[in-house]
Amino acid sequence: MFAGDTLKGRVALITGGGGGIGLEIARKYGQMGAKIVITGRSQERLDGAVAQMRAESTDVLALQGDVRDYATVESWIAGTVGHFGALDILVNNAAGNFFCPTAQLSPNGWKSVIDIDLNGTFYCCRAAYPALKQSAFGGSIISIITMLAITGWPGAAHAGAAKAGVLSLSRALAVEWGPDNIRVNTISPGPIEDTVGVARLYEETGRSELEKKKTILGRFGKKADIANAAVYLASDLGSYMTGENMVVDGGRWLKYVAAS
Ligand code: HXC
Repeated sequence: MFAGDTLKGRVALITGGGGGIGLEIARKYGQMGAKIVITGRSQERLDGAVAQMRAESTDVLALQGDVRDYATVESWIAGTVGHFGALDILVNNAAGNFFCPTAQLSPNGWKSVIDIDLNGTFYCCRAAYPALKQSAFGGSIISIITMLAITGWPGAAHAGAAKAGVLSLSRALAVEWGPDNIRVNTISPGPIEDTVGVARLYEETGRSELEKKKTILGRFGKKADIANAAVYLASDLGSYMTGENMVVDGGRWLKYVAAS
């Protein structure tokens, strides 16, 4: 689909890169010639991801830690620049979520998700800014959100609110950092098969078939669908795209709106 050198010479950091959509993006970026840094809380998951990517001949570094800690995030950026000499692409993928009716959601449950999804994204953008500004390719920030940020997310109000914050943050940064040649975009996946999100929110709650019916295409998406969008936005193919929210959801949000 893309040429193998689409991201040649670039350095990308992907948070939550040890599994799921984050790992798929990291692998695809590596296959397109980028050098990769993945971060995450579980060293075991990171080790597995590194082994997989090295078998695909990707030059990859794993940095363990929690996106909720700003000093840790700063150390990831320093570690990336120290190891690879640059940072060109930041993918804010790390996320926490669970299904919980809001009347039963504890303040700490709310705070945990806001801290990971919204504050963690801000921490990464803020810490990465000086390095992205130096990028020879022009910096690129991509944050993974959801159209449920815009419609509201019944049963996951914490995650919907956090992702809405990430959308607003991204648009502000697109304007503020455009003059520094940093592009800032978001991707809104729909339900993607073989992910923790779909397992927790739809499979474990017995709502998979209903959710598929809610998309125009009638099926879950694949992790590769999101990785391909992330390649496009990070590369020169998307060089005039900034402040954009790329919706890759099988038409779910449109059907949701049309049905209401
Ligand atoms: C109600 C819950 C809960 C649940 C946790 N809490 N799970 N409340 N229902 N199912 C509450 C806890 O009781 C606690 O509040 C608070 O949340 C923090 O919980 P901890 O387990 O101590 O937090 P922590 O270990 O930091 O874990 C963070 C987490 C966890 C977000 C709660 O789920 C996590 O680590 N998730 C990472 C992986 C993940 O969620 N992936 C899915 C992302 S999918 P109290 O008051 O008891 O102290 C996604 C998009 C999906 O984002 C899109 C699908 C279409």
